[in-house]
Order: sequence, then structure tokens, then C-alpha cells
Amino acid sequence: MGVANEHSIAWGIAEAFRREGARLAFSYAVDSMERRVRPLGESIGAAYIGPCDVREDEQLDAFFEEASAALGRIDTVVHAIAFSNKDDLRRPVHEVSRAGYLEAIDISAYSLIGVAQAALPYMGTGSNLLTITYMGAEKVVPGYGLMGPVKADLEAIARYLAASLGAYGIRVNAISAGPVRTLAARGIPRFGGLLDVAATASPLGCNVSTQCIGDVAACLCSPMFCSVTGEVIHVDCGFHIMGVPAQLEAWKEAGRAEALKEQEERASGVQSEAE
Ligand SMILES: NC(=O)c1ccc[n+]([C@@H]2O[C@H](COP(=O)([O-])OP(=O)(O)OC[C@H]3O[C@@H](n4cnc5c(N)ncnc54)[C@H](O)[C@@H]3O)[C@@H](O)[C@H]2O)c1
Repeated sequence: MGVANEHSIAWGIAEAFRREGARLAFSYAVDSMERRVRPLGESIGAAYIGPCDVREDEQLDAFFEEASAALGRIDTVVHAIAFSNKDDLRRPVHEVSRAGYLEAIDISAYSLIGVAQAALPYMGTGSNLLTITYMGAEKVVPGYGLMGPVKADLEAIARYLAASLGAYGIRVNAISAGPVRTLAARGIPRFGGLLDVAATASPLGCNVSTQCIGDVAACLCSPMFCSVTGEVIHVDCGFHIMGVPAQLEAWKEAGRAEALKEQEERASGVQSEAE
């Protein structure tokens, strides 16, 4: 759940699962996304592709009923879904509207509970639920705004679901991914700066790809990880362990370059308004 296009993290995961022999089903959030998701799903032989807006309980129930009719027992559900309206995302947290926050938390965090409820009848011992989070849940990331507290909630939900679904033999884990240029990431202010900083400040000195995230997801959801549940696994080239950036000077340069670019953009906007 959460493929928007071939740059999506969910697509990287789908490709890795397919390579490892999984049979797959895909959801799309709204009708207008079907034309992107269907060809991708069909290109890797999806057993079912259908609508599922996670705000709608009926759509969740119908999606899992149809998916399990096509697949049989569901071994893994990947929840790679987030949304915030742009206005609220761009505001400092003290200015976020109640409506914007409730919408973001409904789609990006509560939906993991909605998905678990709808999928549970079709899962069993050894099944997995996997969600995707970001380090902004743990520490303040400038520009990530309301999504920081929303992701913190998502991670707590994953832990509580791991506790309650353990009785069914179902594991629940989260991957905390480093920044990746996707459709959802476009809404985050100064995202290019986050990429630069992550690449220069992480121990491995690079950014993650959706392929790396997919490979970790395939391992995590395999029986080799059968005793791991309730975890947040960081797939970020080690960025989250650093108190001070690995290459301080390069990191400063990256920040400076981004600030200069923004300044130039602002200046050209003012100029064209004046004209
Ligand atoms: N891109 C990053 O840098 C990054 C880093 C860490 C975590 N994440 C997380 O990874 C997940 C996937 O995002 P992505 O970066 O691949 O972007 P993406 O835009 O490719 O995927 C986001 C998906 O959420 C879906 N979605 C939004 N509203 C929905 C709704 N009401 N019902 C059902 N689906 C809905 C969209 O259709 C889309 O497929 C998100 O949870 C995101 O927060 C992204």
C-alpha cells in the first residue's frame, strides 16, 4: 500500500519482494492514481490491484477481502502511506491547524490501525505488518513540521500493535528510512538540503535508495527475522547515530549551498513580481 509511481519507497519494496518470489497485490488511494499504479503492478504480475483510501473503513475491508481472494493468506502488509496538506506542512508546529493535524494523523498514523483491523482476518502466524517512518519522529528535523509528531505516533502505534498482534503470531515493525526524492517528499520544504546533509553527515557518506530499503524490508519480513517485532530499523546509512556530522565542513557547505539557492529563488520571485 503506497505505490504512487516508480520512485515510491513502496515500489522499491515491491520489487524486492517480487525478486524473492512473493505474489503481490497493490492498492491506489484515489481513482486518478490507478493509471500509474496499474501498469506498474501488472509489470510484475500483481494478483490484484484495487482502490483503497485509508480514510474509508469500507474501502479497507473491501481491499483486503479482494486481495486475499486473489492471494490466499496474506503474509505481509506494507503500509507506506503519509499525507499532510501543504499549508500545514510548511508551518512551524505552533501554527498548525487542528483540521490539518487531524487529517495528517488519520492518514499517516491511525491508518496503520485501520489496515491491521481490515487485514487481520486474512493473516496468520508468521505474517508481518511493516510501516515506513522517518527520523523526524525522534529528533527535530527543520522543515518536517507536523509530520514529526505524526510519525512519533505511527512508531508508538507500531509498538502497541506488535504487542497486541503478537498473540496471533503477527510481527509489526517499522523501517526508518533516510530521505529519498519521492512524490511525498516534494511537499517538504528544503528537501534538497536534507538529502545533502544526510549524504555528507552519515557514516557511510551517501543517501539510501528505494532498492536498499526494499532489500531490508524483504529481510525483515522473511522468516529469518521471526523473533524481531516492535522494532524501528534505521535504513539511513547510519545518519541517526551521529551527534556531530561526520564531515563537518562538507555538511556546512551543503547547508550554505541550499540557503544560497533559496535566497536566489526568493530574489528572482521578487524581481518577476516587480516586473
Ligand atoms: N521519501 C522520504 O524521504 C521518506 C523518508 C522516510 C519515510 N518516508 C515514508 O515513506 C512512506 C512512503 O512515502 P514515499 O516517500 O514513498 O512517497 P510516495 O508519494 O511515493 O508515497 C506516499 C503514498 O501515500 C499514499 N496516500 C496518501 N494519502 C492516502 C490515502 N488517503 N489513502 C491511501 N494512500 C494514501 C499516496 O497515494 C502515495 O502512494 C511514507 O510514510 C513516508 O512518510 C519517506
